[in-house]
Amino acid sequence: MNPSIDFHSGINQGVAPVTYGQGDRPPRGDYAQANADYTCAQDWAAYTPAEHDLYRRLYERQAAQLPGLACDEFIQAVLQLGSPTHIPRFDELSDRLHRATGWEVVAVPGLIPEEAFFALLAKRKFPATGWLRKPEEFDYVVEPDVFHDVFGHVPLLFNPMFADYMQAYGAGGLKASRLESCEYLARLYWYTVEFGLIDTPEGVRAYGAGILSSAGELRHSVRSTEPQRIGFDVERIMRTLYRIDRYQASYFVIDSFQNLIDATAPDFTPLYARVAQRAPLAADASVPGEKRY
Ligand SMILES: [Fe+2]
Repeated sequence: MNPSIDFHSGINQGVAPVTYGQGDRPPRGDYAQANADYTCAQDWAAYTPAEHDLYRRLYERQAAQLPGLACDEFIQAVLQLGSPTHIPRFDELSDRLHRATGWEVVAVPGLIPEEAFFALLAKRKFPATGWLRKPEEFDYVVEPDVFHDVFGHVPLLFNPMFADYMQAYGAGGLKASRLESCEYLARLYWYTVEFGLIDTPEGVRAYGAGILSSAGELRHSVRSTEPQRIGFDVERIMRTLYRIDRYQASYFVIDSFQNLIDATAPDFTPLYARVAQRAPLAADASVPGEKRY
């Protein structure tokens, strides 16, 4: 799941929200069926055998790529998703997750407004899209689907430190909404939760869900010489634009999950004020003197 924005409010008005990232396609999903907080029923019985099989093939392809590219915390936790042969039932997944870190998985129609998104995260509820991509989208889907949300995001919610970061992010988001600084915070989410890399003794590894659920970007982000891999810097990230429909031109590398928590713990109010005074940076902008990996 990614945050997006609805200029009216965080209350479901039966229409899909518009997004901050730059892309060309409108969101899909049945927003008319969602509750006021944008949650809805998963309707697990409605998944077809072909959809379960597509999920299985997506899972197998990604799981085979994880060694050497994904961080150990993710590799260990992915087993908690349960059987790879079926789309998980969110209620069963939530039982396991709740026992581990107090989180649960709730279904939503697709991208939801960021205020609604933040409110759910602050309550340790992870909004996961109910629908699965179409077979022709096996290699790439622009919007988060159930595979992206479950395979990409849920494993690290079993990690106590990352679970706390996600809740803090939600609480910080509610505050940013009041300060009208959500766009900056959305960039932090993008470059950490979705496309974050982590430095390890064995080399750089992925922890971001957008990377870990992508067929090609996992290897690209960790091994390719094409993108920039830049040392983690909150202010730099908040200034950096991103694209939602292609591989990232820049990734930001944390030293550890503790590094992520420590760097994002301070009050962002003065930071937002500084970022607002400066021009945004292009997704592929190069800044002299930055640490590179
Ligand atoms: Fe996501």
